[in-house]
Amino acid sequence: MLPNDPPRWTIEAAETTSEPSHVAIIMDGNGRWAASRGLPRVEGHRRGVEALRRAVEAAGKAGVQYLTVYSFSSENWSRPQDEVMDLLNLLRMFVRRDLAELHRSNVRVRIIGERSGLPGDIEALLEEAETLTRRNDGLTLVVAFNYGGRQEIASAARRIAEDVAAGVLKPEEVDVAAVTARLHTTSIPDPDLVIRTSGERRISNFLLWQSAYAEYVFLPIHWPDFDGAAFDAAITEFRARDRRYGGRTAQVSA
Ligand code: FPP
Repeated sequence: MLPNDPPRWTIEAAETTSEPSHVAIIMDGNGRWAASRGLPRVEGHRRGVEALRRAVEAAGKAGVQYLTVYSFSSENWSRPQDEVMDLLNLLRMFVRRDLAELHRSNVRVRIIGERSGLPGDIEALLEEAETLTRRNDGLTLVVAFNYGGRQEIASAARRIAEDVAAGVLKPEEVDVAAVTARLHTTSIPDPDLVIRTSGERRISNFLLWQSAYAEYVFLPIHWPDFDGAAFDAAITEFRARDRRYGGRTAQVSA
């Protein structure tokens, strides 16, 4: 190949991008969906729960092993109190109404985020969801609730400092694995694909550490409109990506 020739890429690179094992979703656009229909915001969130059910079904059908959904961020407390209450109530309703069905479908539920400070009944419901489904070996549904990526990393750093102070960890042992082991996502693999709906192109404090090599797909629909076809479209886009993890794509030699 001449120096100025464009590289000829092999299809091997595309083929090495396997199916996503872990899909994470920033479920955005509930408010705008509602506003564009003259409905109260809570209606957008209610329809968002229905979209979440469709996402779980689509992930199961696609053979995805982990589905993580961003349902309430550490920063969402700054919303007006009635909206915060609506979101807390929807979580209560989701666990009460859907837990038995999720369990029947062999779904394992994991919760990530800060538990302390949550209303006691919500803490209990989250605990119940994890305990009931802990032996299931189908799809793992990871619900990020009161979750913030920076807060999670800060908390891991605090735990590392405590372990070093207690003499159970040496400073030279503080590495990527040591941080990873102290995140809320212990034993959950990194996301391969992060989907965000609503057309916004932001990470918004979601899985900051874990998404270091994730592929992002931004869908131009609001979350309440999400369905199996949207999920499949995101997977199709993911398959076309060439994941290199900082390495190089195989090139055809001249
Ligand atoms: C973002 O839309 C969405 C949220 C802040 C909440 C996500 C919640 C759900 C999908 C339903 C609840 C599910 C559970 C399990 C509790 P937005 O309100 O920021 O939309 P906007 O940007 O259009 O205003």
